[in-house]
Amino acid sequence: MSNQVQLDIKELKPGFGAEVTNVDITSADDDTRTKLVETFHKHGALLLRDQNLTPRQLLDYLGLFGEPEGHTLQQYTLPDYPNIYLLSNKQENGRQIGAHNDGVGWHTDYSYKEFPVQNTMLYAVEVPPEGSDTIIADCCAAYNALTTDRKEQLDKLILHHSYKYFMENREYGRMKLSKELEAENPDVFHPLIRTHPADGRKALWISTGTVKEIVGMDNPEGLDLIDELVDFVTQDQFTYRHKWRVGDVLTWDNRCTLHTGTIYDDKKYDRLMYRMWIKGDKPF
Ligand code: SIN
Repeated sequence: MSNQVQLDIKELKPGFGAEVTNVDITSADDDTRTKLVETFHKHGALLLRDQNLTPRQLLDYLGLFGEPEGHTLQQYTLPDYPNIYLLSNKQENGRQIGAHNDGVGWHTDYSYKEFPVQNTMLYAVEVPPEGSDTIIADCCAAYNALTTDRKEQLDKLILHHSYKYFMENREYGRMKLSKELEAENPDVFHPLIRTHPADGRKALWISTGTVKEIVGMDNPEGLDLIDELVDFVTQDQFTYRHKWRVGDVLTWDNRCTLHTGTIYDDKKYDRLMYRMWIKGDKPF
């Protein structure tokens, strides 16, 4: 690693996330790329603006962060690029080209997998002038704001995540799973308080959608507690709201954040985002 490289870094909000302003990914040298990855790990989210990338260049950048993760549903991936998933309201030849409003609702990506993804990356190809912001909550800041008693109480809790439950109940794009998808995505159990594998930071790693119950607690009591914790983590003091511009590449660490997409006027405006993931580790 070189110490020569100086990035121009601006926090996305105090204590969370970084925007780097002087980098063009396509011409960045190896030292700069290394520094970008370090900046991501240090700040929990990394934004580069005004990038103009081919799918190949985007995947090269993605690869700096680890091994790309595939997508559970394949029908909306970019032709010839199975690791790029399209989020869009657009239609071509009478066919929906991407998943629409796929990320609306507070969640962490792939929380229903035994090894949820490490980071999510979004590249903005076409964005509405209003709406469709992505909001990211800093789950470590939220954890740090809990009282000691509350930390001890929550530390014992385990969440039951279910892809089947999620897909059959979600607000947008509800679907009944095929036998194959059900078999490929068995229910999993993850701790509510997650320890970051890199540095031991703790996160209040709550999610919605995939969470069916808190183990050992009856519903609605368990789901009420989930709602209460989501309200806590998503307060303005812990969140960053990203207003998209074409050419933005934003990536965030799913091991210590919660995020949601937001709706927009899809009759008036088009949105097209490329979504990618990096494989992650088992939460503990
Ligand atoms: C996501 O949750 O993966 C996407 C969020 C967005 O579309 O803004």
